[in-house]
Order: sequence, then C-alpha cells, then structure tokens
Amino acid sequence: MAQQGYTVEQMISAKSIAARIEDLCREIENAYADTSKLVVVGLLRGSFVFIADLVRELDLPVEVDFLEASSYGDGMESSREVRILKDLRGEIGGRDVLVVEDIVDTGHTLTHVVALLNQRKPNRLKTIALLNKKIRREVDIEADWVGFEIPDEFVVGYGIDYAQRNRNLPFIGRVRMED
Ligand code: PRP
Ligand code: MN
Ligand code: MG
Repeated sequence: MAQQGYTVEQMISAKSIAARIEDLCREIENAYADTSKLVVVGLLRGSFVFIADLVRELDLPVEVDFLEASSYGDGMESSREVRILKDLRGEIGGRDVLVVEDIVDTGHTLTHVVALLNQRKPNRLKTIALLNKKIRREVDIEADWVGFEIPDEFVVGYGIDYAQRNRNLPFIGRVRMED
C-alpha cells in the first residue's frame, strides 16, 4: 500500500459490529414498535456503512434519507463549526425519525443536527451512534443508543476516515502514527 505515515490496528472486528447491530435493532424495533414508518437519517459521510447494515437488520417499515454535516475537514481536530452541506430530501414534521451517526466525539455535530431537525417538529426523534468517545465531550449530549464506548484514540474504518482515507475498512481500527 502507498506510504501514508501511519498504520491501522484492528480495534473492533466486523463480526463484533454485526453482533452488536443485531442487539441494537431489537431495541429500536421495541422503541418504535407502533410506527407506521421510521425515517432513518444517515449523517454523511461517516455513517454510510453503519446505516446500510442497520437498515438491513431492522424489521420496521423505513425510509432512508441523508444529511451531510462536516466539522473535521481533513484534520484530526474538530473545528467545532458544523456546516450543513446537504439537507434532507424529505419532510420529517410529525414523523418518527432515527438519526444515525458513526461516532460522537466532542458532540458538536450531533447537537447541531438534533437542534436543526427538532425545529421541524418530528413526532419522535431518537439518535444512534456506533461509537461513543465520551471522554472527549464538550457539549452535553448522549445518543439514545450506542454501539461501543471507546477510549480517546483516533479511529478509522467502517465509514470513518482520516483525511478521507480508510472509510472502506470492514472493521474499526485505531490509527498509530509512525515516527
Ligand atoms: C466526524 C464523524 C462525526 C463527527 C463527530 O464527521 O463522522 O460526524 O465527526 O465529531 P464531533 O462529535 O466532535 O462533532 P466529519 O466532520 O469528519 O465528517 P465525515 O462524516 O464526512 O467524515
Ligand atoms: Mn461525520
Ligand atoms: Mg471525517
């Protein structure tokens, strides 16, 4: 592989992710058991792998929509300024909504998106994040469902990038910088 100045070590296997998604889906099905349709909103780009696996495991009538938010650019640090680059295609007023994130780090992205979507008066809006890096939180927000709590390490794979790379790894890995 081309020199990229860092290596990636597996942290959470594809198999562990799949097993955790099965459990999460049973909980989501219970929470939205009476829904006529759940609008599952993926936050691009990071959630594209997670949402694909999630909706295929979820035994509920769903609509899939996407919203693109960006705060990191190509760096390792959050800019804390969340930009909406692409809005939802559909209306969510009066609808049941599940916002899907790959990772909650400082919390700025999810806080910003939830506030924006709540202005549209959904019926029930809940959130799910595959990974939670609680130690890094700067704003008081928790996803309703979390796949895995992780330590303060830069992670990639399963949709998550470092400078737009490694999103296609099938597992979650930690980045180790080379000296
Ligand atoms: C990453 C990640 C989350 C967000 C979490 O997105 O996918 O959306 O940062 O960080 P926060 O809790 O500190 O806000 P990024 O802005 O890198 O865009 P991307 O999903 O397109 O990679
Ligand atoms: Mn993201
Ligand atoms: Mg990113």
